[in-house]
Amino acid sequence: MKISMMRVAMSLMKDLSSRAGRELGRLTAPSAESLREVDWEKWVRHFERNKRNRPEPDWDVATRISPGIVNALLPSLEQFELGDGGGPACLIAFDAEAFRSCTRNVQRVVDAWFEEEKGHARLLGRAVDRFGGKHIKTHWSFSAFCAVRRFLGVRFELETLLLTEIVSSAYYRVLKRNVEDRPLKEMCALILRDEAGHIAFHLERLAAADRSVVGIRRQLWEAQFWLLGFTAATVLWVNHGPCLWPLGATNGEFYREVRREIFRFVLRLKRRAGLEPWNVQIASH
Ligand SMILES: [Fe+2]
Ligand SMILES: [Fe+2]
Repeated sequence: MKISMMRVAMSLMKDLSSRAGRELGRLTAPSAESLREVDWEKWVRHFERNKRNRPEPDWDVATRISPGIVNALLPSLEQFELGDGGGPACLIAFDAEAFRSCTRNVQRVVDAWFEEEKGHARLLGRAVDRFGGKHIKTHWSFSAFCAVRRFLGVRFELETLLLTEIVSSAYYRVLKRNVEDRPLKEMCALILRDEAGHIAFHLERLAAADRSVVGIRRQLWEAQFWLLGFTAATVLWVNHGPCLWPLGATNGEFYREVRREIFRFVLRLKRRAGLEPWNVQIASH
């Protein structure tokens, strides 16, 4: 008797959680109208074009970095190999498939985007090999990152990935500027080129989705974007800052890059959505 009651309760809970999941998915997935406004074919062409003209860094050239600096830097490169395309190379939110497979072109763009991310892990893997490091399979920060992506829906996952791309671009820029190693500088340049494309893609996607978000809703959206951006930057820098300090990188340099990237993105988003600062003021009254 007890067992059958437990079975009924479990099946009820399963039913309720799958309904809650569907409902959450409906609320968090990008709207069909906003997806229609994105020029997906343009992004398919962008990713095709971006495959060309990618000279591989000369990994065998002798390095000028001292062994002490290599030892400090290696854990950072190892973690980035896992975090930047080394994990699941796809959207992993519980409702991601509904977004990815809504049209053939959305699928092609999302797959091409993650293909480039896999390419970043490959480049970082070559850098790890160059300095005799190890290829790690797990790290607490990466597990936490994946858990957030999985449970909070595809819209939040896309925002999390965008913010990661923004703060990673700041990291690669700081690394490129400070490291005295040609292949590493070339690797950073290749990754930065791809990330600029990814951020531009998100800009177009969000401009279409957020055109109607004005007034206090817009201010709240911007506030959470800045807050999450600086949270992501701090999680990154707590781990990676100490690895880059011996190269001469500073906290101020990293956070200046982050601030500049977020500021530029928010401003461009307003312009693309037709919401110049003065329009936002008018719309809020
Ligand atoms: Fe990447
Ligand atoms: Fe990216």
